[in-house]
Amino acid sequence: MLEIAIILGSTRPGRNGEAVAKWVHELAQKRSDATYELVDIKDYELPLLDEPVPPSQGQYSKPHTKKWAAKIDSFDAFVFVTPEYNHGTSAALKNALDFLYKEWNDKAAGFVSYGSAGGTRAVEQLRLVMAELQIADVRAQVMLSLFTDFEKWSVFKPAAMHEKSVANMLDQVVKWGTALKTVRASKG
Ligand SMILES: Cc1cc2nc3c(=O)[nH]c(=O)nc-3n(C[C@H](O)[C@H](O)[C@H](O)COP(=O)(O)O)c2cc1C
Repeated sequence: MLEIAIILGSTRPGRNGEAVAKWVHELAQKRSDATYELVDIKDYELPLLDEPVPPSQGQYSKPHTKKWAAKIDSFDAFVFVTPEYNHGTSAALKNALDFLYKEWNDKAAGFVSYGSAGGTRAVEQLRLVMAELQIADVRAQVMLSLFTDFEKWSVFKPAAMHEKSVANMLDQVVKWGTALKTVRASKG
């Protein structure tokens, strides 16, 4: 069975991301095509990248890096739940991505974003990062508006149509995640 992480990319106190990630996780758990786990990067207490050797060399020295690496290594695909901060993703999510390398490689990912323009600019930025990490990012995307999917920009009340977007995005993540599992297996 494919194992998919729903990665909560904001760590701010009072973050809207928590409600969004829980909603995605609840919808995902109704499916039978994969196992879905909510992964909160806040729980890993990653400092700003403090590894002396570039992650692509795979020489992790710190306990927090090894713990994060073991977690990410256990998944076949990812759903990144990202806020939009200053037209980009959160520093916390970028830092968590930067910490590792091979644990991300040859896996699939989809995005759920939120912001005044649906978080679209954060995802466009993330798509560039995905290429360098050798993560295949799917086209389907869930874009939530702070104006119409949240009350007073803080109480999450997603419009019903987004459930279909989540389903489309997960369909594509499962399809590519399954294909890439064979790529990783062929590498040994
Ligand atoms: C530092 C910061 C920068 C922001 N910049 C943007 C932005 O460029 N575009 C946007 O749509 N929303 C922006 N916002 C609003 C966030 O999208 C909104 O606060 C969202 O709830 C943040 O996610 P979080 O609550 O999970 O941290 C910004 C918020 C913060 C805290």
